[in-house]
Formats: sequence, C-alpha cells, structure tokens
Amino acid sequence: ERQKHIRNFSIVAHIDHGKSTLADRLIEYTGTLTTREMETQVLDNMELEQERGITIKAQAVRLIYKREDGEYILNLIDTPGHVDFNYEVSRSLQACEGAILVVDATQGIQAQTLANCYLAMGNDLEIVPVINKIDLPSARVDEVVKEIEDVIGLEAHTAPKVSAKTGINIVDVLDAVVDRIPQPKGEDDAPLKALIFDSYYDSYKGVVAYVRVKEGVIHPGKKIKFMASNKIYEVTEVGVFTPGMMPVEMLYSGDVGYVTGSIKNVRDARVGDTITDAANPAKEALPGYKKAIPMVFSGIYPIDGAKYEELKEALEKLQLNDAALSFEYENSVALGFGFRCGFLGLLHMEIIQERIEREFNIDIITTAPSVIYKVFRTDGDVIEITNPTNLPSPNEIEHMEEPVVKASIITPTEYVGAVMDLCQTRRGVYINMEYIEQTRAVLNYILPLNEIIYDFFDTLKSRTRGYASLDYEMSGYQKTTLVKLDILLNSELVDALSMIVPEDRAYTKGRNITEKLKEVIPRQMFEIPIQAAIGSKIIARETVKAMRKDVLAKCYGGDISRKKKLLEKQKEGKKRMRQVGSVEVPQDAFMAVLKVE
Ligand code: GTP
Repeated sequence: ERQKHIRNFSIVAHIDHGKSTLADRLIEYTGTLTTREMETQVLDNMELEQERGITIKAQAVRLIYKREDGEYILNLIDTPGHVDFNYEVSRSLQACEGAILVVDATQGIQAQTLANCYLAMGNDLEIVPVINKIDLPSARVDEVVKEIEDVIGLEAHTAPKVSAKTGINIVDVLDAVVDRIPQPKGEDDAPLKALIFDSYYDSYKGVVAYVRVKEGVIHPGKKIKFMASNKIYEVTEVGVFTPGMMPVEMLYSGDVGYVTGSIKNVRDARVGDTITDAANPAKEALPGYKKAIPMVFSGIYPIDGAKYEELKEALEKLQLNDAALSFEYENSVALGFGFRCGFLGLLHMEIIQERIEREFNIDIITTAPSVIYKVFRTDGDVIEITNPTNLPSPNEIEHMEEPVVKASIITPTEYVGAVMDLCQTRRGVYINMEYIEQTRAVLNYILPLNEIIYDFFDTLKSRTRGYASLDYEMSGYQKTTLVKLDILLNSELVDALSMIVPEDRAYTKGRNITEKLKEVIPRQMFEIPIQAAIGSKIIARETVKAMRKDVLAKCYGGDISRKKKLLEKQKEGKKRMRQVGSVEVPQDAFMAVLKVE
C-alpha cells in the first residue's frame, strides 16, 4: 500500500537537452524548495561541476506530488553523464524503476540520447520520453515524436511536450511519472538488501551512503554489513533528501534515502555494494558489484617542492570522498617528490587536478597519463608498469602487453568513413558495423586503451560535428611492440617527459614532440638543445635559441611603472615554471606533449 505511492526515477538525456533544467522545474513545481530558496540547478551543486556543465556525482531528491488520487513520493535520482563514470550511471539507474528520457525538440535524437536510453533499457527501466524546449521557434515537435517512435521504438504521441525553461506542461511530466513508471516491489520482512548508488564523506556524520532499499527495512541501532567490503557498522541515522538530509525513523523497502554509521572511509561503503542485516544477512548481494578500478595513471608534483606534505594531505582528503582515486609516493629526478595517481579516466584525472589547484591552492605539474602495461621479462618475471620511467631496458624485455577496450561508437552514417579513419590511426581493430535505422550506425572496434585516454573523445566529436557517442569496456590485454621515448633538455634526461609509444610511431612522435617543446619552452640565457631518444639513440632534435636582449632593455630604465609591470608579468609567468636541471620548463610543456600525434 505504501509502495503504491512511491516512484523512483532518473532523468537521462543527451548533453544540453535540458536534464538539469527539467529537474529544477520538477523540484519547484512540487514545492520541494520555494523559488527563493532555489539556486539555479540545485542538483549540480559542486562548483566545478557547474562550470563544466557536467554531472559528476549522482544525487537524489524527494518530491511530494499531490493530486486527486492521493499524495505521491517521487524520488528523483540524478545520474552522471560521462563515460568515465558509466559505472555510477548504471548503479543510479538500478536504484530506479523508470527513467525520463529528455529529447530537445530542436535537435531531436542525438547519440547520447540513444546511449543513455539503451543503458536504461538494459536496466529494465520503464522509459518515459519527454519532449523539451517547445518554447523555441525552431522546435520540431511532430518530427521528434516520429524519430522517437521510429528509432527507439517508444510510443511518443502521448509524451509530455514541455518547456523546462518556461514551465509549460510540467505537470504532465509528474503525471507521466506516476502513471507510467511502476511502483517499487520488495518485502519489508525479508532480509535487508539496500543498494548503495552514491556515497560521500561528511566530516560530522562520517560516510553518508545513498541507498535504495530493495528488501527489508533499515533503522538506527541496526547492525549492518557491507557485503563487498565485509565491514560491519551500527546505523546511527537514516533519512531522506528534501533535498537537504532529513532524518526519519526508518527506511522501508522501495525507499530511497541515506544511511550513516560513523564510517570513516568511502572505501568501506563503495558505490554498487549491497548493505544487509549483520544478524540476518541476505543470501546473496544485489547483482553486478564491481570495484571501480583506476585505468589511467599520472604523476602529480607540487610546483613548489616545499608543498609536498600539503599535496599529500589534499590527496588524502580527496580520497575520503572518492573511492576510485588511488595514489602512491613517487620520486622523479626532474620533479622531485610527488605521487603516482590512478584515475578512472581522463576526465576524472582533470577534475582531481583542478580540485587540488582550486580547493587546496597548490600549483601542480602533472605528467603524461599512462595505462598499466604488463612487461614479460627475459628472466621470466612479469611486472606491471604505470610509470614509463620504470620500464626495464629493451634487452631485459621478452615482450609487452597493453590493455585494450571494446569500443562502440554510434554515429550518423555520413561520418562512418571519418570514424573508421580515426580508429585506424589509433591502432583499432575493426569488429563489425550495425545499422540503427538508415541514418545511424554502430561501429565496434577493439582499441588500445592508451590510444583513447588522451584526446580520442574530443577528436571523435570534432570529426563528427558532435554527433558521435562513445562507450567502451575493458577487454583484457594484448601483445604489442612498444618502446620508451625519452626527452632530453640541454642533454639532461627529463624522466617526467618519458612516454611509452608504439615502436613504429616513435620517430614521428619524437619529431613532433621536440617541435612542440620548442614552441612552449621560452628562450633563456643560453641555447637549449631538445632531443628525443630511444635508449642511447637520438631520433630527433630541435634548439631553443638563447635570449637576445634583456627584457628590461627596452625600457631604458626610464618608465618605472612600466618596468614594474614587466617584472610582475615575468613573475606571473614564472609561477608556472619549473626548474628542471638547468632549464626552466613551463607547466604546459608536460601536457603539451600529449597532444602531438
Ligand atoms: P548537462 O547537465 O550539461 O548534461 O545538460 P542538461 O541536459 O542538464 O542541460 P541543461 O538543463 O543544463 O540545459 C541546457 C541549456 O538548455 C541551458 O542553457 C538551459 O537554459 C536550456 N534549456 C533547458 N530547457 C529549456 C527549454 O525548455 N527551453 C529553452 N529555450 N531552453 C532550455
């Protein structure tokens, strides 16, 4: 009876089709927050998230919708929208019975509309299409209805047609959620099973686990067990999201809410784990738990070596809230003390880097990202390498293996050639191509992970005018021929610039990197040779000429304020420089080398 009045749902959409705006309108309409209280886009509340316009962490809010046949509790669960966080998207969807699929009436179905829709269908969710942005003059409502019916096969004539911006027909969306999405199932007296779909660390409450109770009940005082980590805690508080955290006495099966229990680390309560009753445990956990494993590694060093301890503290704090971030101490000849950090993907890496600089105020240098290579040594040992510097010398290597992914790329058919071309140059192995209607195709490839972590996604987007979408999953290791490419500045090897590259591309890469470095390293008092080498063999060389005049010379000592400004400017530039041996290298140089083909 209780469950009859509960609906648990997510909103999925192609980027910019209006997911967050619609969520805001639903919150506003149901009076969960008054307009005055409403910040714009309450669900995306991390500062960084707002600036980048992406949703990183799944969040939840409880809406109370009153209509003639009663009062409904609608739990809206927000999902992250990037491939790095796909695992979290799929966990969030598993907390729901249905999903709203927002389609922009001016753009129609886009690649991510399909990818997200399939993800939701794969989780057996009821999908409710909603056509948004009908206020715009360029809206093509009827055509978009037809597209949804033809391409996805969902009935769309009765789909709510709304403007999330102006609020037209928002109530239709609420009615569709109540009428079309099934109520939750599950027995209150069964052994407890609650899915963790998000968690974060709060300095007062400890870890707050966001849960969907599938079976049983949970309340303060109960001893609970996390089935994957095998940890046992006593519940101190349970509650719901209004959207602030509001304690309640008990969460029942079908409910969405949070659980706390003086848990010290998010690692004990990972996304995807199942909470059960320690005294009366469920026989098996909810399906599909996997630990989020770092795939991409890079070195992070403080620009100011004295900030090493601060950097360590920052990483420890970030890790409290991010079970997927890993780090260990590392030492570089060029950069001194730092850390080798592991990330889910490149976006995850960039977010962590930005947070260290912004929230902790530490300027850092990051080295080129690397994947985990397996090195089979001639002495029979197999070692895993995440830092190119640790690669044994060629005569000690029997062979090497690198991680590969199975990638699915959805693209309009007119870009199939461009996509194939891109995959080819990234050492992709073609598997097959399938058509979705006449206008869209899915291309499946096996691609080395290290070819997609740099700029694959951006390149794919630009070659398909933004229409292609990419999804990938790890697909094991494959044998390859790789070499370590070293960079020398002023004849000194800069270990932080070393990278592992396919042998047949080492020459081109070496040439392009030395050219790029010549552009980004400013002139200094002396001439700086830039060399690329494989072992002791130099394969490319460029030179940064010595500075001709003192920067101050052109001021003739006359105009003091101008001179001051110039010095300030120099200082500003310096902040981002790092002394590497005898050469000052700008921070950019370490990332610039990534972008060369
Ligand atoms: P991400 O959170 O970045 O994935 O995007 P999103 O799908 O959440 O889109 P968001 O809600 O941020 O909206 C994208 C843009 O479309 C914003 O500039 C909104 O103001 C605008 N927008 C959303 N809904 C409407 C609408 O109904 N009409 C018009 N004219 N603009 C809208």
